[in-house]
Amino acid sequence: MRKHRSPWIRRRLKDQYYKMAKRKGYRSRAAYKLLEINSREGIIKAGDRVLDLGAAPGGWLQVASECVGEGGRVLGIDINEVEPLPSGNVETIVADIESDEALREASKRGPFDAVLCDASPKLSGVKDLDRARQFGLSMASLRIAKAVLKRGGHFLTKAFDGPEVDGLRAELRDYFSEVKTLKPKASRSESSEIYLLAKGFMPRNGV
Ligand SMILES: C[S@@+](CC[C@H](N)C(=O)[O-])C[C@H]1O[C@@H](n2cnc3c(N)ncnc32)[C@H](O)[C@@H]1O
Repeated sequence: MRKHRSPWIRRRLKDQYYKMAKRKGYRSRAAYKLLEINSREGIIKAGDRVLDLGAAPGGWLQVASECVGEGGRVLGIDINEVEPLPSGNVETIVADIESDEALREASKRGPFDAVLCDASPKLSGVKDLDRARQFGLSMASLRIAKAVLKRGGHFLTKAFDGPEVDGLRAELRDYFSEVKTLKPKASRSESSEIYLLAKGFMPRNGV
């Protein structure tokens, strides 16, 4: 008898990035988003210290760990536990990035050359609510980035495209020398997901 599979499962089975991630041992298909962004934009270099917010299950941590190499360090923070990675240059912490605890823990281990955020809320299906929650996470990641980035450092965060993102872009332009909107190939075309990349952090007095 033929097994009945939901459309979601069928799409996932067909998805080339999902298959590639499985084959290469990456924990998420999202790893390919960071690989593409980094190969174009060069935001993570050997020896860097990188902070990854919303890091579970760990695909971006794996990519960042490879890029920074033995001389670098990667800190991952997620509200859920990240299964330990074999790489000796990765540390993970369980915390809510919207909390002061996450800010404190990241600050203790900073400063960082790059802050990445791929955090996303559990989707409710109510578009406005999901966009508002995603926006909250993007703003929380910016708050942490402003506190822990080195001068000249880079910030990459996920957002759902919408009117409120213009405000976020404007704030990024105040603190960074260059701001871009990216849609990596591995990001599903039907999703309003985008990534904002801000390069060249310029801290201000009192930030
Ligand atoms: C799309 S996944 C990240 C995938 C990751 N970049 C990877 O490649 O494995 C989104 C993550 O955001 C995390 N997250 C959502 N809200 C959070 C919060 N308030 N604080 C910390 N992590 C959060 C979720 O637990 C989830 O692991």
